[in-house]
Amino acid sequence: MSQEAPIPHGLPKERDAGPFDPPRDITRLREARPVSPMAFPDGHQGWIVTGYDAVRQLMADTRFSSRQDIGVLHVPYEIPGLPVVTEPSPVEPGLFIAMDPPDHTRLRTKLTGAFTVKRMKMLEEHIVDIAERQLDHMARLTPPVDLVKEFALPLPSLVICELLGVPYGDREQFQVNSVRFLNKELPFDEKIAAYTEMNAYLSELVTRKRAAPGEDILSDLARHDDLAIEELTGIAFLLLLAGHETTANMLGLGTFALLEHPEQLAELRADPDLMPGAVEELMRYLSVVDIVYRYAAEDLELGGETIGKGSSVVVSMLAANRDPRRFDNPDTLDIRRKARGHLSFGHGVHQCLGQQLARVEMRAGFEGLLRRFPTLRLAVPADEVKLRTNMQIYGVHELPVTWTETAR
Ligand code: HEM
Repeated sequence: MSQEAPIPHGLPKERDAGPFDPPRDITRLREARPVSPMAFPDGHQGWIVTGYDAVRQLMADTRFSSRQDIGVLHVPYEIPGLPVVTEPSPVEPGLFIAMDPPDHTRLRTKLTGAFTVKRMKMLEEHIVDIAERQLDHMARLTPPVDLVKEFALPLPSLVICELLGVPYGDREQFQVNSVRFLNKELPFDEKIAAYTEMNAYLSELVTRKRAAPGEDILSDLARHDDLAIEELTGIAFLLLLAGHETTANMLGLGTFALLEHPEQLAELRADPDLMPGAVEELMRYLSVVDIVYRYAAEDLELGGETIGKGSSVVVSMLAANRDPRRFDNPDTLDIRRKARGHLSFGHGVHQCLGQQLARVEMRAGFEGLLRRFPTLRLAVPADEVKLRTNMQIYGVHELPVTWTETAR
């Protein structure tokens, strides 16, 4: 392993290799030193992990603690002036994504039944209906339209609202606050303000559900007497945020990627049976949740390096999913490849709870969109599409599209 690779200072800000590819410095780093020290702007030294095997091993090892930050709130190198994380941060009630076992296990097990493959299969037809209705709406508009606003964001928002029992009429409040919360460039206090506002809203909602539970996931949770209101609120926050921002960005960026790969798009249109595999490949290729954080709870060996106790560790899923040691021609979008084994839903105890739901939504969403809009195309040059390089979940801010005819 080369010790000569220069130590990176923070993460690159731009996608200099194109909208879908890892920044060039990240690719170079993976080739030179897949587990590498990284200097943080505030002066402390942590690590960045970019190789597939190392990322997988790390995610499977809970000694790489998730108590590195307050959920996805505390990003040490991007927000100058924040204290360096050298010991486990306090646990925010309910945010089990930022907990370790056994706290994590206690909360996650209360939800596993709600998101099983079987439950999602039962919901599939309903999700297809929701997608069709949203596409009916889009077909009535005069193009060009913004695909994110008219389709990619509403579809998962409608679905998660219904599942959780959050009124869709309140979407403005949680969509705006989610975007503020996930914006890496906003000052810390503004992110906290967004978090606090959303929590105030959700705390009221779960309090009402505890008093008069209905037929939805948050009501089912509210029936558990051993969950405090603060915990219910935190869980609701996590599910609502993870449930709409992630899939929306996969639908938006995924459509952009397909439109930029017309031969792949044509194959997919010609044979819809390719859809499940295409969704996995888009997940691998795009890795919209690129960066996650961990914290070494003890001295740990990884990829031939020793990561000292108390180190912050930045993990790049995108780099791992483009590792040529794991996937042939990794930078090629190939909807026929076997992309399962990608790390885009994470790995280990925190592996995405909503992955089956996300898959059903993506299959229904892409299938419906391609069928109903056979002439769909970008309404602006590709290099004018606004990329979410400033956000913790990657994607496009808007995707202006147009078409000449629609179909049923
Ligand atoms: C966890 C990605 C959709 C709920 C995760 C993690 C990733 C991820 C990478 C692991 C984070 C870590 O280890 O620190 C995605 C992507 C999605 C998606 C790319 C869409 C394409 C969803 C949906 C839900 C959801 C629809 C709705 C319920 C969660 C939850 C966790 C999680 C609750 C935390 C699990 C835990 O800590 O045990 N997701 N996700 N996700 N995701 Fe997703």
